[in-house]
Order: sequence, then C-alpha cells, then structure tokens
Amino acid sequence: METVTTVDMLRARIQFWRRGNQRIAFVPTMGNLHAGHLRLVTRARELAERVVVSVFVNPLQFGPKEDLASYPRTLEADRKALENLGVDLVFVPEVEEMYPRGLAPATRVQVPELGERLCGAFRPGHFTGVTTVVAKLFNMVQPDTALFGRKDYQQLAILRRMVADLDWPIDIEAVDTVREPDGLAMSSRNQYLDAEERRLAPQLFQTLQQLAARIRNGERDFTTLGVSAMEGLRSAGFEPEYVEVVDADSLEPPLEGRPLVVLAAARLGRTRLIDNLLV
Ligand code: PAJ
Repeated sequence: METVTTVDMLRARIQFWRRGNQRIAFVPTMGNLHAGHLRLVTRARELAERVVVSVFVNPLQFGPKEDLASYPRTLEADRKALENLGVDLVFVPEVEEMYPRGLAPATRVQVPELGERLCGAFRPGHFTGVTTVVAKLFNMVQPDTALFGRKDYQQLAILRRMVADLDWPIDIEAVDTVREPDGLAMSSRNQYLDAEERRLAPQLFQTLQQLAARIRNGERDFTTLGVSAMEGLRSAGFEPEYVEVVDADSLEPPLEGRPLVVLAAARLGRTRLIDNLLV
C-alpha cells in the first residue's frame, strides 16, 4: 500500500492505472477509522481492481464553534487497518495541499435546498464544505465508483445530487450503517461521550425504531410523530435538533406510497449524534 501526500503524485499513480484500464473505487474519509469506514473499504475492494482511500479532516466543513481542533487523528492505526484490507493507495494531503490559496477564497460547490434543510439548517455551510472537498477529490481520483455510508444519509443524498447535476460518470454506492451491539451507530464522535452519556446514547436509535414502528402501524401524522419523538429524547437527557419523517429520495415532505426515512440529530452533552432509519 502506498501513502501519497501530494496531488501530483496521486495523479501520476491514477493515470498509470487508467492507462491499464483498471477500475478505481474510492472511499473518502476523515480518518480515525472504525468498523463503519472499514465496511465501505471492504465493499470497495469487491468492486474494482484499485481501491483509493483519502484521509483528510476537511476544515471547510467545520463551523467556527465545532470540533475541528479536537477531531481524533490516528493516521498510523488507520494505515494499518487499510493495509490489512488490501487498499492500494491512501491519499493524506495537508490542508495547504487541498486549499493552496486558503479557505476563504476557495471556489465552492453547493447543492442548494437539499443542503440547507435538516443538518444543513443547524450547521450552516457544512454541506457546502463537504460537496466542495468531495468534488475536488473526485477530480483528483477520477473514480469509477465512490462509496458512502447511509449513516450520513443527507450527505449521501446531497452527493448523489451533485454527481447527477454535474454529470460526473461516477457510481455512488451506499453502504448500510454499522452499529455497536446496543444499536448506537458507529461514529468517530462517540468517543467524546462520557460513561453516562454512552449509556444513554442508544436511545437515539431506539427512538427511531419506535417511530418507524408507529408508521408501519398506520400512523400518518408525521409532524406529531416527530414532535413526540423530540419530547421523548429531551426527557431522556438529549437536546434534540430535529426528528423528521421525509421522502427517502428527495428528503422532501412525504408523499403517499413512497419510501420514507426517519432522520434525527441530537446533542448529548458536547457530542452531536445523528442517525436514521428507512421505513
Ligand atoms: P467520515 O465521517 O470520516 O465518514 C467517511 C464515510 O464513512 C462516510 O461515507 C460515512 O457515511 C461513512 N460512515 C461513517 N460511520 C459509518 C457507520 N457507522 N456505518 C457505515 N458508514 C459509516 O463523512 C465524512 O467523513 C466526510 O464528510 C467526507 C465525506 C469524507 C468529506 O470530508
């Protein structure tokens, strides 16, 4: 496995593979890899001759009061895990390599509307940071397939829209959420939880399961369902940001007969947790 830190070196390697007609699968990450990330890499290995993983904590997608400085960085352990899974190349650029003219003047790629709702309403600019960095990475890696987790359901929907709108010939492959035995969705941010918060955290997923069960039982007042789920989370000790039932593809208000997804975001102490469940 090769580790590359510059765009020039990455491009040279990619060109060599492309000339040999080898397919490339790409998994973008911010590192601190856990079993959820590794599921994406394992799936990538099945899909292409070459697997590229990026590890880059993208400052453009963090708000001024968010956890950019404290975000866990564990590159050596990440490299070992990726090597064990047969990854061909890890791209680990410095911030200056990705944004040589600085963050403020960097050209942005923005998906309006879809990027402004749900998490976008609570983290202004976040998804523009995500789409911008993923667009840059797509241009560098030129993958045939790129893999993303359903754990970040809105991110996945936004990136699918970006690829469709910009006519990129890239297949976006979604991978199911990997969970802890008690149901908590795996996330690098779970390590911010103290023991008591960690004990409470699975209630977020339980709340989504209960809400999905009520929908399957025929309840259709989605607004009331969301409000009562938020109240339940609040009395359990969370500070919920939203619990919403939306159309699983458009993330718009539900239409009769279409697949639904329940999405939630809530704070537990200083940790922001998100989760979702397809109904
Ligand atoms: P990061 O949070 O590191 O996640 C990288 C990929 O792993 C994303 O596609 C995410 O959905 C997936 N993932 C995380 N936890 C998962 C879990 N428990 N089960 C399945 N998949 C999981 O998401 C980002 O980084 C960044 O926004 C990025 C796309 C890399 C752009 O900077």
